[in-house]
Amino acid sequence: MKIHLLSLCALLTAAGAAEADPRIIFIDPAAPEAAAVRQAGEAASARVATRLITELTAALGAGGPEKAVDVCHTRALPLTKEPLPGLPQVTAVKRTSLRLRNPANAPDPAEQAALDRIAALVADGKPAPALLIQKIETTGTAAPEWRLYRSFGIQPACLACHGTTESQSSSLRALLRERYPQDAATGYAVGDWRGLVRVTVRIP
Ligand code: HEC
Repeated sequence: MKIHLLSLCALLTAAGAAEADPRIIFIDPAAPEAAAVRQAGEAASARVATRLITELTAALGAGGPEKAVDVCHTRALPLTKEPLPGLPQVTAVKRTSLRLRNPANAPDPAEQAALDRIAALVADGKPAPALLIQKIETTGTAAPEWRLYRSFGIQPACLACHGTTESQSSSLRALLRERYPQDAATGYAVGDWRGLVRVTVRIP
């Protein structure tokens, strides 16, 4: 009975979401209306990227990939329950990808649109654009949501955990398999496009 109620809830939620039908609009990052989003969004995404690399490099040096998995899992995302210092207008930060290790990082519809846009360019042999800006308009809400996406690639430091599984030690492979049974985020090479950091910026 409980399960039936839960699936009913899921159906109702899905129907509600479809009704709201957000309009996802890509804005030229050079456009004047994107300036405020860029200013806060670029600062926040740069901070997240720097922190990720610094912490990973330190953890890899100190304990190897097995120890560093915990850094990537628990600390790499300074997710903003509290605002980032000096950036109160940044209300959310998230990493996402088309090839996920943790299903909890799965894209929402607007993130999916951003990922698809870059994937199409990459499939065409074009470089991934560094930045995307989105304005999301939802019927019934006064203010649109503004997002900045920073795209990033695989660096040598990422290969320990996102390179080929053959290059991983059996203990690392076992750890990743145990924690992430659906892991699709291996097999990358240096320079491959990996995914996006998404920053939501509140524009007053
Ligand atoms: C020590 C192992 C390790 C290294 C090195 C590592 N990652 Fe990860 N990565 C992980 C783990 C574990 C997760 C899952 C995190 C979670 O549970 O949210 C992850 C998740 C991610 C995600 C989120 C999407 C997903 O697949 O769930 C991205 C994006 C990502 N890593 C990019 C990188 C990049 C870029 C680098 C190099 C700068 C890197 N990682 C280096 C272990 C690692």
